[in-house]
Amino acid sequence: MEADLPPLPRTTVTSSGREALARILAYLRLRSDDEVWITTTLGLRDLKISPCVTGTIARYCRFAAQPGPRTAAVLVVHDYGVPHPGLAVLRDRCRRHGWPLIEDAAHAFASTDSTGRRLGALADFALYSLPKFFAMPHGGLVSGLPSQAGDEDDEETAMRLRAVLPQVRTIAEARRHNWLTLDGLLHRVGRESALPPTAGSVPSVYVLRTERQFATLRRLRQAGIESGPEVHCGWLLLPCHQSMSPGDLRRVAAIADGSGIDDDHVAPSGLQDATRSPGRPLRLTP
Ligand SMILES: Cc1ncc(COP(=O)(O)O)c(C=O)c1O
Repeated sequence: MEADLPPLPRTTVTSSGREALARILAYLRLRSDDEVWITTTLGLRDLKISPCVTGTIARYCRFAAQPGPRTAAVLVVHDYGVPHPGLAVLRDRCRRHGWPLIEDAAHAFASTDSTGRRLGALADFALYSLPKFFAMPHGGLVSGLPSQAGDEDDEETAMRLRAVLPQVRTIAEARRHNWLTLDGLLHRVGRESALPPTAGSVPSVYVLRTERQFATLRRLRQAGIESGPEVHCGWLLLPCHQSMSPGDLRRVAAIADGSGIDDDHVAPSGLQDATRSPGRPLRLTP
């Protein structure tokens, strides 16, 4: 079904990534005092983990940022499309303990690891969030669940997905290209990413390292550029999706940088003009 990508085992189309995760957790029949150990590419903890994830888990059981005596399952989040570096080791650890392993590939629909293996293909279960890659209002995928009554595809989402699937390769290339363009613009002003993509990964956003997180966040929002998070972490998300033009990328770089926008030395050509015009709102997803 998924053009240009290695297939996943037993995939079902759901109404959202949260619904995909909920189906996995329901299938595992976790007890309310069980814990899901969450570990992510960036090593995020607590409030920095997406509330989509923690809120969904909290409907079934507890979650924790480390393993413990109540660990009953492990959720590996491939942050923003970049593979968790400890995945293979975690899989072995899960096997030893009998813990089911879930890959949260919400942001990693088209990402592979450096060997070409699709993110989500190594674990017992995986979930994806479709609007983080395609221009779709909602939708998700779950893989690894045995087919059982009541687990049919969400038909409306499946129909939309069939229509956009042929765009996978084009979108993935545009995203990698836009990430590199933004990275080049930001490098010129001494900025860098806190999460560079690895070979095979397709970034869902640009993770900008910043010591002035909240001032930068305010500036981006005032300019109509969606960003976050709102908890202190030393980085911010910038859009770099397939619908962004070179002018959009220059504008994002200029506003994220703030200090250097009037300086010919640091400003790529056209950057100042793009900065002055209010432009259209720029969202993190297409
Ligand atoms: C890491 C992660 N997992 C799962 C989800 C849930 O996806 P959806 O928005 O499709 O429900 C999100 C949503 O932001 C997410 O960031």
